[in-house]
Amino acid sequence: MAERSDKPDTPRPQNVAELAELLRAGRLVAFPTETVYGLGANALDADAVLRIFEAKGRPANIPLIVHIADIDQLSTVTARQPELAMQLAAEFWPGPLTLVLPRAPTIPDAVTAGLDTIGVRVPAHPLAHELLTAAGVPVAAPSANPFTRISPTTAEHVRAQLGDRVDAVLDGGPTDVGIESTVVNVCGERPVLLRPGSITIADLEAVVGPVARATPTADPHAPQPSPGTSERHYAPTARLVEVARDPNGNLRLPTDSFANETWALISFDRDDASGVTASEPAMHRPMPRDAANFGRQLFATLHDLDAAGCTLAFVEQLPPGAEWEAVADRLRRAGLARPGDEGAGR
Ligand code: TXA
Ligand code: MG
Repeated sequence: MAERSDKPDTPRPQNVAELAELLRAGRLVAFPTETVYGLGANALDADAVLRIFEAKGRPANIPLIVHIADIDQLSTVTARQPELAMQLAAEFWPGPLTLVLPRAPTIPDAVTAGLDTIGVRVPAHPLAHELLTAAGVPVAAPSANPFTRISPTTAEHVRAQLGDRVDAVLDGGPTDVGIESTVVNVCGERPVLLRPGSITIADLEAVVGPVARATPTADPHAPQPSPGTSERHYAPTARLVEVARDPNGNLRLPTDSFANETWALISFDRDDASGVTASEPAMHRPMPRDAANFGRQLFATLHDLDAAGCTLAFVEQLPPGAEWEAVADRLRRAGLARPGDEGAGR
């Protein structure tokens, strides 16, 4: 990042070797990846891993993703490396893809929530790579946010949400992808998509053929294919309500009075802020019309709703198309409701 050091908002130089030492000593270090910031701990140190759950307030039955510096380390955290996994790793690592594989016996139960599988990825961020290389151990890292809150895409988001519950934050500026990695189980004959991300099902299928989708079991007490992927998550304080356009292209906001609320508008058109209703939104965020750029800005936008004290946000309906799957998933889990939905908002 040295080439950017003349810019005013450039993260200050940080001693990666010192942070790696903290990790090896069992402390918590938040670090940037290309997706979101992770809250890292030495994955081989069960006490350190338990500290992650404490800091996040996360239930112990949701497994963590383990980060490795490069593919050569895969055999240190997994019991087997099926051909399917190697094909996907060769194509997408380093990158925003997590592979669920049979776990090595050296991995503490706390990391995998007792499952016999482990989620692993090689992140593409240069600072993450530097930190993982210097640490020399696999690093368990969920997103660096309190359980059910919005994932962090900047170091400020981490500090604001976790404060001194994290021992250090490695600042790499805003993340590039903005939503968490695609998670795929590759233990069986056919890969199973567990969590959508910027690498789409079509991207995966181009490499390994048909990919199945996990369907959460109806009984919440039965084992889930991927614990933690179905519940409400990513939640801002504001209620999120979907709005569509009328045939004239004007946004249709509900006529019910919301004038007394601090409300926001998240839509695709810069001109939407004025004239849609009698009251002005406290915040209007025109969003990019392509899924990748929308995804990059999504969590920062949700964080901004909280910062602006919004109690309600209208979100324009997403365009059709498979490339929107991950964004739609995150908005749904942030509580997005259609007007009139059962339990709309929350
Ligand atoms: O982009 C990301 O993946 C970020 C960055 C920091 O790498 N990490 C992340 O971790 O999102 P986390 O802990 O918030 O998400 C972990 C999710 C779990 O909720 C679960 O759905 C899935 O990954 N997962 C992890 N291990 C699994 C396993 N053994 N079997 C099934 N699903 C697993
Ligand atoms: Mg998370």
